[in-house]
Amino acid sequence: MNVCVIGTGYVGLVTGVVFADLGNEVICVDNDEKKIETLKNGIPTIYEPGLEEMMHRNMQDARLFFSTNIGEAVRKSEAIFIAVGTPPKDNGETDLSYVENVAREIALNIDRYKIIVNKSTVPIGTGDIVREIIEKNKKGNVDFDVVSNPEFLKEGTAINDTLYPERIVIGAPNKHVAMKLLELYAPLERLMLITDVASAEMIKYASNAFLATKISFINVIANICEKAGADISLVVKGMGYDSRIGASFLQAGLGFGGSCFPKDAQSLVHTAQKFGENFNILEEVIKENDKRVNRFVERIAEKYDTLEGKTFGVLGLAFKPNTDDLREAKSIKVINSLLEKKAKIKAYDPVAMENAKKIIPNITYCKNAYEAAEKADGLIIITEWNEFKFLNLDKVKKLMKNPIIFDGRNIYDPNKLKRLGFRYISIGRKEV
Ligand code: UGA
Repeated sequence: MNVCVIGTGYVGLVTGVVFADLGNEVICVDNDEKKIETLKNGIPTIYEPGLEEMMHRNMQDARLFFSTNIGEAVRKSEAIFIAVGTPPKDNGETDLSYVENVAREIALNIDRYKIIVNKSTVPIGTGDIVREIIEKNKKGNVDFDVVSNPEFLKEGTAINDTLYPERIVIGAPNKHVAMKLLELYAPLERLMLITDVASAEMIKYASNAFLATKISFINVIANICEKAGADISLVVKGMGYDSRIGASFLQAGLGFGGSCFPKDAQSLVHTAQKFGENFNILEEVIKENDKRVNRFVERIAEKYDTLEGKTFGVLGLAFKPNTDDLREAKSIKVINSLLEKKAKIKAYDPVAMENAKKIIPNITYCKNAYEAAEKADGLIIITEWNEFKFLNLDKVKKLMKNPIIFDGRNIYDPNKLKRLGFRYISIGRKEV
């Protein structure tokens, strides 16, 4: 099938590259000329394991193209995927202006039947908005359908998630267009669910909000564990054996960040209000999440007479491992809070430092974790990169001025750290 994907962010780029890998001819479109130039040179604009190799393969086989020309891409394609950003407004509502602009561009260039697919995370009713914009602005009597096909990929495992999704949701207005999209996804041989458009839009928000709820829920349980002398890792193990609960997304820590959960949870609260319903549970989930960093920094602060002049090694800046994305990353809040208290920061992240330098310029960036630990008054783990799990902790201890580790992601065994002579403060477990 001839496909174009408008927007080359995480979702758009990965979707386009994977569609090409399935044998389709794909044009990825963006209005950012610099981005498109970089992509044309075979350089991915995001860090995502496996992406570069797949991009090269499909560019060489002439199935994958990059362009700033949205009109031409629309005219050449049978299916047009909208994957542009949907940032939050100040009141939490989703800003649909990018989606609406793209819909207008599509309308101006639609010359025969097209399938327009909303891949961006958009509130219920957006399918109707896109349809109305195209209807109003199209020239001539051309037919089209608007489908909702939400994306469930996670950053860091995006290629794998797109190749092996647990489900593919197709919210279609009629059988004909549903079958067309089924055909596109058929080579993946995964479970597909066909729904109406509004239900597909809701599935996406309800899924993200539910996962965010699991995280805030377990974080509050971790708070109680800290006071009650229980161990959150054992509690989660015991809960997870119950197949109705499951162990995933119950990792207590600094809370959820990234470009999706915080904004999608806010947006769903807003949608509920719009329909005259309240969503107090979700509002509390957001509030709990917002408290995580302060609580953590307070626990750090209480271990010193003052933070002024103290040096902290910070391991991990990305909002989670295997990505260079810093959107809503807890590192920014923790570091800024420590800087306000006049502490000094030496940070290291395997891939996110270039991005971090633009947001937090006034700290020292280190070549590796050991350099960050050198002469530090404390070491802080923010992102659970695998390489931090396998550090030579004897070496770390010798390098540090004061061997105390604050672990926001519970990557070490407290007993081991105690044996090695560290003070170790983690989440939802006894301090040792
Ligand atoms: C999330 C969803 O997992 C994807 O299914 C969805 O497609 C995507 O949002 C989206 O809407 O585009 P992502 O934001 O890439 O994916 O990252 P996650 O792995 O879900 O992590 C989100 C945040 O929750 C991270 O800050 C992570 O550290 C935190 N988290 C996750 C926890 O604190 N505990 C956990 O147990 C799991």
